[in-house]
Amino acid sequence: MNNNKSIFPKDFVWGVATASYQIEGAWNEDGRGESIWDRFSHTPGKVLNGDTGDTACDHYHLWRDDIKLMKSLGIAAYRFSVAWPRVLPQGRGKISEAGIDFYNQLVDGLLEADIVPYVTLYHWDLPQALEDEGGWPSRLVVDAFVEYTDIITRALGDRVKNWITLNEPWVSAFVGYRDGRHAPGHMDLDKAVAASHHLLLSHGRSVPVIRDNVKDANVGITLNLTPQVPASPSVVDKKAATWVDGYINRFFLDPLTGRGYPQDIVNSFGNSMDFVQPGDMDTILAPIDFLGVNYYTRNIARSEITPEEQNQPQTVFREGAITEMDWEVYPKGLYNLLGRLHFDYGFQSIFITENGAAFPDEVNSDGEVDDPARLSYIKEHLKMVNEAISIGVPVNGYFVWSLLDNFEWGFGYSKRFGIVRVDFETQKRTLKSSAKWYSKAIQVNNADVE
Ligand code: FCB
Repeated sequence: MNNNKSIFPKDFVWGVATASYQIEGAWNEDGRGESIWDRFSHTPGKVLNGDTGDTACDHYHLWRDDIKLMKSLGIAAYRFSVAWPRVLPQGRGKISEAGIDFYNQLVDGLLEADIVPYVTLYHWDLPQALEDEGGWPSRLVVDAFVEYTDIITRALGDRVKNWITLNEPWVSAFVGYRDGRHAPGHMDLDKAVAASHHLLLSHGRSVPVIRDNVKDANVGITLNLTPQVPASPSVVDKKAATWVDGYINRFFLDPLTGRGYPQDIVNSFGNSMDFVQPGDMDTILAPIDFLGVNYYTRNIARSEITPEEQNQPQTVFREGAITEMDWEVYPKGLYNLLGRLHFDYGFQSIFITENGAAFPDEVNSDGEVDDPARLSYIKEHLKMVNEAISIGVPVNGYFVWSLLDNFEWGFGYSKRFGIVRVDFETQKRTLKSSAKWYSKAIQVNNADVE
């Protein structure tokens, strides 16, 4: 079927995404410094099965093959991240030319293959040396981030136009410093809130630096956004949904759009926010060209008060398939979210910088991987993107998470998100059905294909 309505705008960007620590490996080669994820994954008990990113997909050595793979699929854009400790092993100061050279070659290889690079500056691999100085809860890191931004955008900015400052600052701050499930593994709410502010400040300070160094730069920030739905019409469930929305979504969307930190959330943190200095909120407001959205699922928010006490039984339940992450497949949530971002927050350009699903894959006797659940996940979400575009939401591109099966943080290699299977013993790559389907969709600029 090929009706016109489901065709994407002709300049719609079809991409795939990865992140440095999750795929590169070569953790201690060519002078790369230690990152907080090396330290964390090398600490027994932190990552499932003791997995580490030491080798990961060995992309540091196999990048040429990975570019060929993308080219064979007709992928138009590749979102990857730069490992800060590869460029500045100590976080600031001495530069590693070998590190810069790796990204120079990668960028050249992509351009030769007609693939447009989208570079994320920070996808969670903070140099350990900076963590030792206090990490994101310390304001000192902000200057170091600006220094790093300056160096890498000078090096690549003649060829790379699309820059994403941060990936999911909520996860860096709250999963890393409050929940302790991610590096550096702290469990301290005050630290997390300070980390969050310093991440946003780093973003705001680096935007003008990128513009200075890159002609015609297209600059954005990527947030993880999860729509919240109250589990019942009860007041307490509605309150719960409002709070989680504030904690995960508004705490980042609001300061980035001039609304300041949401007072309900600040109050609930009981934090004096005394690390916010005069001028900071304006700095954070540095104009961006696009918002990057990572969308995976919605959340049904339930108050901690038991249903009996609430006098209101739960009325909203998960209805979609459940992925291996225990996330509900809910494409409509993406449509609703996109509407909110444009019509309420006023974003004028949006890229879906991540969307995808982990499902257990099986390799058949011919060595093939048929992954209909992942394929349908991607297809249904793309259709929602298209619907959003049709009501006037300016979505300019979509990046599948992920090109390759990779190191899924605290879950190690146990969760496979790739449209390409990676055998972690042999590093063999195998296209899954979802990759072949995605390639077809790209060719016709339409997700409504078999
Ligand atoms: C996002 C991360 C990405 C990947 C996906 C599954 O939160 O940005 O690195 O782990 O989740």
